[in-house]
Amino acid sequence: MTITRLAAALVAIACVAAPASAQPHAGDFQLGAVAADHPLASEAGAQMLRLGGNAVDAAVATSFTLSVVRPQSCGIGGGGFMVIYLPDDPTHGRVLTAINYRETAPAGATPDMFETTELPDASTRSALAVAVPGTVAGLLYALDHYGTLDRATILRPAIDAGEAGFTADASYVQAARTTAKKLTPEQRTDRPALWETLLHEGQITEGDLVRNPQQAAALAAIAEHGRDGFYAGTVAEHILRACAAHGGIITAADLRDYQPAEIKPLLFTFDGKTILAMPPPSSGGVTLCEALGIAERLGYAGLGSPAPNPPAPGPDNTHLLVESLKHAFADRAEWLADPAFCAVPTDTLICAPYLTVRAATVDPAHTQPPASYGTRNGDTARALPEDSGTSHLSVIDQWGGAVACTETINLEFGSMIPAEGAGFCLNNEMDDFTTIRGQPNAFGLVQSDRNLPQPGKRPLSSMSPTIVLDAHGQVIAVAGASGGPRIITGTMQVLLNALVHDMPAADAVAAPRLHHQWMPDQVRLEPRLCAGGPDEATNAAALREALISRGHTLGAIDAVGVVQLITRDDSGLHAACDPRKGGRPAGH
Ligand code: GLY
Repeated sequence: MTITRLAAALVAIACVAAPASAQPHAGDFQLGAVAADHPLASEAGAQMLRLGGNAVDAAVATSFTLSVVRPQSCGIGGGGFMVIYLPDDPTHGRVLTAINYRETAPAGATPDMFETTELPDASTRSALAVAVPGTVAGLLYALDHYGTLDRATILRPAIDAGEAGFTADASYVQAARTTAKKLTPEQRTDRPALWETLLHEGQITEGDLVRNPQQAAALAAIAEHGRDGFYAGTVAEHILRACAAHGGIITAADLRDYQPAEIKPLLFTFDGKTILAMPPPSSGGVTLCEALGIAERLGYAGLGSPAPNPPAPGPDNTHLLVESLKHAFADRAEWLADPAFCAVPTDTLICAPYLTVRAATVDPAHTQPPASYGTRNGDTARALPEDSGTSHLSVIDQWGGAVACTETINLEFGSMIPAEGAGFCLNNEMDDFTTIRGQPNAFGLVQSDRNLPQPGKRPLSSMSPTIVLDAHGQVIAVAGASGGPRIITGTMQVLLNALVHDMPAADAVAAPRLHHQWMPDQVRLEPRLCAGGPDEATNAAALREALISRGHTLGAIDAVGVVQLITRDDSGLHAACDPRKGGRPAGH
């Protein structure tokens, strides 16, 4: 179906139709809060808030610190998205914007580059997998335009973390040990910044100190020279040398020319609230809003009726949730890509008539074959990777300003190719393109030809930084996640828990979750939903039975994303970091 036909069909449809919480992963604050997936990173942001900085200052300091303390997940070798809402900032007034600093295909990229190369694992573990990093340009753009503190202050905690080191926690050890096993003897020798500095030669254990003076020096160069400290000079030379040594095509001009893009966030109405979300090339905003809109029209948890919502997502609602996700992910596969390169029907996919027609096709008694969802068919099945290289942070400041920021290097430790001398791994974001037509990527996602690589194009992402406003325009929630496509399902369920089921932030984040991404056609349940029985708060046995009786195929999954949430109500700010990864919030 062409976009024109889709739009025409829609016209036709329209005509017819403070003190720390007792739980270590959570905290309550009065003025400002940061929830990141590492305690040192949350603390770096909170430090900026205490210095009088705003949410953008805090987000940028948090992100640079994550680059050091979560090198398996994100960092200056990757890219990201930031949604900013400052309703009443003393320096900038009212700001509503989004910054797209997604990594970009180099000038030498071609649509068939991964279909014709002889390199093994080319789109994930060769230097062809590396897209031009955007994090440094994006963070400095955000700081220059919407922050208030100087670069040296913002980068200080990150530089300190690189010099003094951080303590390896369970999440880091798991990622480092898994990655160490993947490296060949030759790779162990020629990648000391990864093998020795970050993986401790495969011997890392919890409590080890991980120092990274090379990255501290790279961050100091950024503090001193701004973007030229990364995209030119010594750090750029390290990046280019690493790419050239491993078959890559990134040039000095690719680095020099990289630019972040400022765009208008998606605005979507859900249950009387306004969702601010990231537009394409993130698929996160469109897919999240489409799924929420369909769920609302299906009467999920009593939405749309005057009756109060049930306290927890009950078994019968779970089918409605899954069906909403199947439609939204089917449309993701067909329609979404970088809008700078092809027409993407963003507004159409989340407009009321389209959501109503999608909801009308849902059978409350039974799930349907994949071809019934969205606008196309496909066929694949592939296991999800153990983890993913992404990290989300949420911030609220004392003026009610908020930042939702998600960043990634794609898979754990990205391409596993470090910029030797600069202490960080280069991303493997090229795998988020359609690399081999008709075949799934590392996350089992089959995507359309719209998402083929082209010079300067940004690969489709699932990152879903999201801010929610009440009817008066006040921020009531900031959320987002890591986990590839599970970002979308994880963020959606945590928001439903907090906003619809009235769960406290700590419980909303900790509650077990499920995942469905349309293809493979399977509902994947976290361990507590697989094994839990009638005693579980969520009544896992009844939930499984409700899904099976409606024809769903069930599967298991370790974790449906890692979500960081801050909510705000009359009593203050409630921040929760996902216990699945070990973060801890900070604030004042
Ligand atoms: N690299 C994961 C994503 O952007 O969706």
